[in-house]
Amino acid sequence: MNLKYIRELAAEQMMQRRSHPAVELGNKYFHGQRVGNTVIELRKQLFPDHPEWDETLLVAAWFHDIANDRTNPELDHQQAGADMTAAILKNVCLAEEVEQICSLIACHDMREPGNVSYSDQARLLQDADLLDHLGIFDIWYIFSMAATQGLSMPELFEWFEQTRPGKEELYYYQCNFALSQRILLEKSQFVYEFGARYLTEGNGQIWHLEEMTKQWREQDGGKLYGALRASASGETEC
Ligand SMILES: [Fe+2]
Ligand SMILES: [Fe+2]
Repeated sequence: MNLKYIRELAAEQMMQRRSHPAVELGNKYFHGQRVGNTVIELRKQLFPDHPEWDETLLVAAWFHDIANDRTNPELDHQQAGADMTAAILKNVCLAEEVEQICSLIACHDMREPGNVSYSDQARLLQDADLLDHLGIFDIWYIFSMAATQGLSMPELFEWFEQTRPGKEELYYYQCNFALSQRILLEKSQFVYEFGARYLTEGNGQIWHLEEMTKQWREQDGGKLYGALRASASGETEC
C-alpha cells in the first residue's frame, strides 16, 4: 500500500472538518493518527509475529472516525465510516485490502468484554481507540472545551473532582487485552495526579509546600532564610 499517499488522502478528507463545534479543526484526523501509532505499538507487544497486519491496521485507524459527527447521534458512524473509506480507497488499494480495512472500521466501537468473536486485528483497533481517550488526551480535551466555552479555572474543578474520577472503570472492562487495561490504569493515574495538582494550584495553594520548604531550609536557601528571620527579629547572624 502507498501509505504516504493514503495518509495525504486522510488529511484531505478530515483536516477541514471537526466532529463537534467545540473541538479543534481536524480533530478526527489527529485522533486517527494517534490511534494508528498506538495500534502498531499494541500489535508489536501482543502479536509480535504478525507485522503483516500493520498496513491494514494503520489505514483502518487513520480513517476509523471519518464519519464521526457528535451533532448527529442517530448516525452509525462505524458503518458510515466504512462506506466512506471504501469509496475513498477503491482505486488506491486492492479490493481485498479495502474489504479488510473497512471490516475493522465497521466494528471499531463494538466492545463487548470477553467477546472473542471479532478478529485479533479488530480487537487491537478497539483497544487503541479506547486508550486514546485517556491520559494526555483527557487533559487536552477538557482544556480545549474550556477554551472554546470560555470556562474559568474554577469551573473545571468539578470535572477533576467528580466527573473524571471513575471514568476509567467504565473503559477498563471494555478493553480486550490485559495489557491495554494496564496501560489504561497508568494513563488514568497520571490524570489523577494532574487533577490533584490542578485543584491545589487552581486554588492558589502551593504543591507540596511543606516538603519543599523543608528541603529548601536544609539546602543553601536556608542560609538566606536564617538571615531574613534574624533581621526580622533584630538578631545578628554570626
Ligand atoms: Fe468511533
Ligand atoms: Fe475513535
